[in-house]
Amino acid sequence: MSTQSTIIGREGSCSDRTNDLKAFDERKTGVKGLVDAGSKTIPTIFIRPLESRLNDLDTCHENISVPIIDIARVDDDEDRTAEVVKEVIVAAKEWGFFQVVNHGIPLEMLEVMIERIRMFHEQDDEVKKKYYNRDFERKRVLYYCNHDLYKSKAVNWRDSLYVNTIHTSGQVDPQELPPICKDAMLEYIDHILKLGDRILMLLSMGLGLEPECLKKLVKGKKGWSLIGHYYPQCPEPELTIGTNGHADNSFITILLQDQIGGLQVLYDNKWVNIEPVTGALIVNFGNILQIITNDVLKSVQHRVIAKNVGPRVSVAFFFRGLFSSDQIYGPIKELTSEENPPVYRDFTIEEITTYFFTKSLEEFGIDHFKLR
Ligand code: OGA
Ligand code: NI
Repeated sequence: MSTQSTIIGREGSCSDRTNDLKAFDERKTGVKGLVDAGSKTIPTIFIRPLESRLNDLDTCHENISVPIIDIARVDDDEDRTAEVVKEVIVAAKEWGFFQVVNHGIPLEMLEVMIERIRMFHEQDDEVKKKYYNRDFERKRVLYYCNHDLYKSKAVNWRDSLYVNTIHTSGQVDPQELPPICKDAMLEYIDHILKLGDRILMLLSMGLGLEPECLKKLVKGKKGWSLIGHYYPQCPEPELTIGTNGHADNSFITILLQDQIGGLQVLYDNKWVNIEPVTGALIVNFGNILQIITNDVLKSVQHRVIAKNVGPRVSVAFFFRGLFSSDQIYGPIKELTSEENPPVYRDFTIEEITTYFFTKSLEEFGIDHFKLR
């Protein structure tokens, strides 16, 4: 192989891509199944187009990182609350991301959650296969490899376990949850819903709205989804990616990651690593929040690189709103004015969610909801 081709690696395109995707999907064992079979190279369907690999933005190696915000005592100390509100808004406007510590969720619970998600993915294939599905509308609990498997330019090196309640007003039937992670999930969900409400209160205050304003719009308990991602160790990480660059389809997202690292956020046109911090949770703003705050808060692009170490486990919790509701969302009146008119049109959660599933993760954006 010449030097040039070593840098470039292999090409990703092939004539029978659809067949390869189908065959891979039908095995129902995801990326982990490939690693278990001992493959030392990655299948062609995972190779990112040469163009994207060559034109990738730089990764920033300087010592900058998303803010870490300590939210201890926010509920019972007014001065402290005011300080934290400021920190949250600064982080929100500058990064669209922050890490939160002293949030009150015991470290042990976070560790157990990661461990149980890992155990789900590492259990017997035959048990796991029963959850393998792509019916994101009807199924409440699904395991799959890439929701956009047939739409993206390259498959991402990641398997996922999805619990979705946006169609059931936030209700989850414990019997439907995989026994191996059921208890951990139920406890975790309970805590995260409360933390989400606290963060929405801080955000509302920071935006000069009634403290309960965002909480009422988001209806956390009535429409959330949780995804337990599993990123196996990758034999050719430079050819693929763990999760393509994207912005979330949510109001806010609360993410738990293990100690492996690989998550990056776009900052000043460079990718910046979000280093794992023990006990911290990562908060970021999704597209719906950007729309309803009329661009005051930004939904920032982020991604996960593939690594030759792993597996990496993360748990993303999305506050998404209630799917089957007549509630209309659009820029909040208090955040618009004659000088600052609405940038986006009104829509329902059903509309934005349906739109999300028609696009690949990379393509999903909010321009579709812009007023023209
Ligand atoms: C997501 C996401 C990041 C991660 O699920 O939307 O950005 O670390 N996940 O897995
Ligand atoms: Ni995301």
